Amino acid sequence: MSQLLDLLNQFTHQHNQNRLVYNQDWLSNQRALILLGQRNGATATVDDYGNVYLDFPGQMNDRPVATGSHMDTVKHGGRYDGLYGVLGGFCAIQQIYEQHGIPKHPLRLISFSEEEGSRFPATFTGSKYYTGTLQTEVISDKQGITFDEARRLAVTQLQQLPHVKTQRVSLPVTFTELHIEQGPRLAESHKKIGLVTGIVAQKRYEVTVHGQANHAGTTPMIQRQDAIATASALMAKLYALAAKAAEDLTFTIGEIHVSPNVSNVVAESCRFTIDCRANTDDQLTAFVTQMLQLLEQSKRTSVIETLCVSATRLSDDLRMQNAALATQMNYSYQTLFSGAGHDSQIMSSFVPTTMIFVPSEAGISHTPTEYTKSADLLMGVSLLANSLFVQANG
Ligand code: GLV
Ligand code: MN
Ligand code: MN
Ligand code: MN
Repeated sequence: MSQLLDLLNQFTHQHNQNRLVYNQDWLSNQRALILLGQRNGATATVDDYGNVYLDFPGQMNDRPVATGSHMDTVKHGGRYDGLYGVLGGFCAIQQIYEQHGIPKHPLRLISFSEEEGSRFPATFTGSKYYTGTLQTEVISDKQGITFDEARRLAVTQLQQLPHVKTQRVSLPVTFTELHIEQGPRLAESHKKIGLVTGIVAQKRYEVTVHGQANHAGTTPMIQRQDAIATASALMAKLYALAAKAAEDLTFTIGEIHVSPNVSNVVAESCRFTIDCRANTDDQLTAFVTQMLQLLEQSKRTSVIETLCVSATRLSDDLRMQNAALATQMNYSYQTLFSGAGHDSQIMSSFVPTTMIFVPSEAGISHTPTEYTKSADLLMGVSLLANSLFVQANG
């Protein structure tokens, strides 16, 4: 069972995880996963967006039961977000074949190419491509490399590996995603497993405040068009608005870019991101309507929406099945609503989908200090194995 810990070490040699979609670290991990799957009897497929599918045989040649998560990380991310669901899924599938032989229905492990939106202004592109819901636009990363250039370069290298299939892959019969909780609730309740009822609604924006670059020493204060002065006043108003919104609304300004970013020049422009989430679409819409009104009142300010996903209810049947299994296994559990976005959110519009969470120490995630105890990681894998076993023999 320490296979999981060995694999996690092997797939995360750096302290900081920077597996931004299609970069070298991302490519070497997707490649290593393909080889690992092929060595263990799977057929590997890589689609044109770099999603990796490992298909393991069933007694019947019908639609598979699937598990998996995403291979990318946020910039300076942790070791477990995404990767745990990929490698944990692999180990769970291995356990099933070792302990019970070939199940009735086939099993599929999916390593989605991208979920985080941290390199390009696009999010969930892996699962959206898989489900046929991706709308493509010309977008570039901060170095000016377009999504399509980066994608073609990386994906070709994976598709050229021996015995790799490259066609589009049909949808599975169910999807189960194993993930760290990324929040404090399991750590606080001392429960070992979280069974997810649903996932938050989410919207993201990019706001640009335009000013006029000028000399810091000679431009009178009242004659300035200082983009930082305008943007910081606007940010204070936005935080105040968020503080008055629904209790479970979250509001984050996580990225700020100033141009020219020089100490003795009045700023010409200030661009910042907004990430806001709520448990229901109505709560989020109520906040966003007020937020956009506030932004509209600010002169020389433009706003682009970069992400919009609805709140999602996951499968009650699969969650209840997992609750019964957790009880049989003597694992303490609670139901949870997820404040983090997941590929399951996209999958659940097409197939019955469920998620299993394990505790995050101190609720910390999206940083290199993200940590989950080994025993907790292994419990999640055991529950996933039993869940997939039941689903694949149903
Ligand atoms: C993805 O991890 C997100 O919720 O931002
Ligand atoms: Mn994740
Ligand atoms: Mn994440
Ligand atoms: Mn069946």
